[in-house]
Amino acid sequence: MSGSLAETVRKTAAVPQTYDHFIGGALVGPASGAYFESTDPYTGEVWANVARGTKADIDRAVAAAKTAFKEWSALTPSARGKILTNLADVILKHAERLAVTEVRDNGKLLREMASQTKYIAEWYRYYGGLADKVEGSVIPTDKKNIFNYTRYEPLGVIGMITPWNSPLLLLTWKLAPALAAGNVAVIKPSEFTSVSTLEFMKLFKEAGFPDGVVNTVTGFGAETGAALVEHPDVKKIAFTGSDISGQKIYEAAARQIKHVTLELGGKSPNIVFEDADFEAAALGVIAGIFAATGQTCIAGSRLILQRSIHDKFMERLLDVAGKAKMGDPLQPSTDVGPVATKPQYEKVLSYIDIAKKEGARCVLGGGASSVPGATGNQFVAPTIFTGVNTRMRIAQEEVFGPVLAVIPFDTEEEAYTIANDTAYGLGAGVWTKDMGKAFRASERLESGTVWVNTYRALSYTSPFGGYKRSGLGREGGIEAIKEYLQTKSVWLCTEPDRSYPFVMK
Ligand code: NAI
Ligand code: MG
Repeated sequence: MSGSLAETVRKTAAVPQTYDHFIGGALVGPASGAYFESTDPYTGEVWANVARGTKADIDRAVAAAKTAFKEWSALTPSARGKILTNLADVILKHAERLAVTEVRDNGKLLREMASQTKYIAEWYRYYGGLADKVEGSVIPTDKKNIFNYTRYEPLGVIGMITPWNSPLLLLTWKLAPALAAGNVAVIKPSEFTSVSTLEFMKLFKEAGFPDGVVNTVTGFGAETGAALVEHPDVKKIAFTGSDISGQKIYEAAARQIKHVTLELGGKSPNIVFEDADFEAAALGVIAGIFAATGQTCIAGSRLILQRSIHDKFMERLLDVAGKAKMGDPLQPSTDVGPVATKPQYEKVLSYIDIAKKEGARCVLGGGASSVPGATGNQFVAPTIFTGVNTRMRIAQEEVFGPVLAVIPFDTEEEAYTIANDTAYGLGAGVWTKDMGKAFRASERLESGTVWVNTYRALSYTSPFGGYKRSGLGREGGIEAIKEYLQTKSVWLCTEPDRSYPFVMK
């Protein structure tokens, strides 16, 4: 998109539009009558007013979903699959518009969001194709005259709670397999980025979905999100966000023995060995921490760097990161956009202070940045700390911003020990030309994803999720559809069974 188009986008939304919930295929005003503001992190201007959902709205959406479940789950898997693949085509038609909406709400680069919104079509195509390939099995047993087989059945209404960093992508990871499996959804997007999900809802009718299969209720976590988690007709919660909120949701879900999938962020290590392809590793480390202004769950926020190449490698990193251009995320020349939300901006700055107080050495950035034209004032300069050790908070806690902690190591063994020394285990990068080391690292790292000589690569075909405090369950790939199914074992007796009734068969 050209610069002038970016200006047009901002001007046309000068008067904030009002957004209602999407329930049962229709726009529905909030029961409370209340709306809240959504701001553009680049300009700091309110650009949308969004319905503030309460329990009454959640009740209404869950009821609509429950009704739609009868129709949706009764379709043949092939019929459901076709509707999902239709959706993939419809998404491609609207991808750029959806991407602009995401950028208005979270300030991530249009360059990234435009390709991301197109890419999400592939999830619907993939799970659409998978819908009629979920096969049960015929199981031989040790009992006579028994035909035992398994069926996979949908759970029902799934509650989906998403964060602000990649609203539609992270929703899609849940929605595509859940719908393919025959479930229906009530979605609660982040209060900071509700608009793209509401715009997305409009595409479902065009693709041929019955009304009520997908519903969105907007609002705040503790109010709207909690009401969704606590609704007894919601059979599973699929959540992406912070580990603190994830833990609260897990506890609430436990009270009703509800299924959960939790994707909870990390403190991912990027290990650079002295034998790595130097330039590829340097760009990989940059991609890991400064892409998306560091606001990704898989941010490679710890560089674990072999001491023998430490100084030379840091020189190259400082060169590339130091030249990164901060600016308007709608402009194609921008490398680094604003931090998405005011609280997040303050959180990132507070971690920079913490790192300084802990004695880490700030070699790049180290604070807020003012960008001409960016009236939102939410820029943090790409920041690098060297001399970090594993006891520092900057090495342990998720910052979710453009802040890299560099920890040196000497031996291979030490690299793995440092890498595993956090509560998290979402992603890990390894840079080496030694194949043996690559295999050893991929076994030793306690992490749901290990990238060797690449970073931040993802696909709809591959499972994604966390070890340790980074979460439960997997999204993506064939196994993710099972997260939205329950197994039934059916025992059929082929002869009248007149055996003694007072003991187990
Ligand atoms: P959050 O985890 O509080 O919010 C994520 C979603 O959960 C939002 O839709 C929110 O409304 C909802 N939510 C929050 N509390 C809830 C509750 N008790 N019951 C039901 N729903 C609830 O994340 P937030 O406040 O936006 O960001 C805080 C931190 O989370 C960030 O600083 C970052 O460290 C981390 N984060 C991690 C993400 C990831 O992809 N793993 C994404 C976004 C944030
Ligand atoms: Mg916003």
